[in-house]
Amino acid sequence: MKQKFEFEYDSFDSVDSLSTADQSLLATAKDATETAFAIYSNFKVGAAALLSNGQIVIGSNQESASYPVGICAERTLLNSIGSQYPKETILSMAISYHPVGKPSDEPLSPCGMCRQSLLDYENRYEAPIKIILGGFTGPVMVFKSASQLLPFGFNGSVLKGLK
Ligand code: THU
Repeated sequence: MKQKFEFEYDSFDSVDSLSTADQSLLATAKDATETAFAIYSNFKVGAAALLSNGQIVIGSNQESASYPVGICAERTLLNSIGSQYPKETILSMAISYHPVGKPSDEPLSPCGMCRQSLLDYENRYEAPIKIILGGFTGPVMVFKSASQLLPFGFNGSVLKGLK
């Protein structure tokens, strides 16, 4: 039997159509690219999350001379929130990027590892994280849950109760 999988997301021509709160979070993610340590790729990524206590926390990619050791902006941010604010849920996360010498004019598509980490976080707190993706200019995509970015993703609940 063939099955079809579909989901809905919001697509905007520019940041102007976003709510004030989402515009502000995306602006903070753009600013966060300045804290990236991306001397190997020159691809600076910034992420900003709004927590359930109203606080906004940022993260950026931090690269390593041993390339695979580096970590993406999204996971820098998730790990920071998980350590510093373990009692808060993440309401929304905006992600932007600055590729040095090139335009940042379309949304960044988060990597697969970050999608898994976002899904892990949603499952851990049983709360969806709204994802806002946008470059420095151009269109913006908004997903109501990070799980939309990883259909049929692995849910750690299957690991519970193993002997
Ligand atoms: N990067 C992120 O920070 N997030 C993503 O979703 C994709 C890639 C970083 C990793 C590396 O430092 C640089 O961008 C180039 O891959």
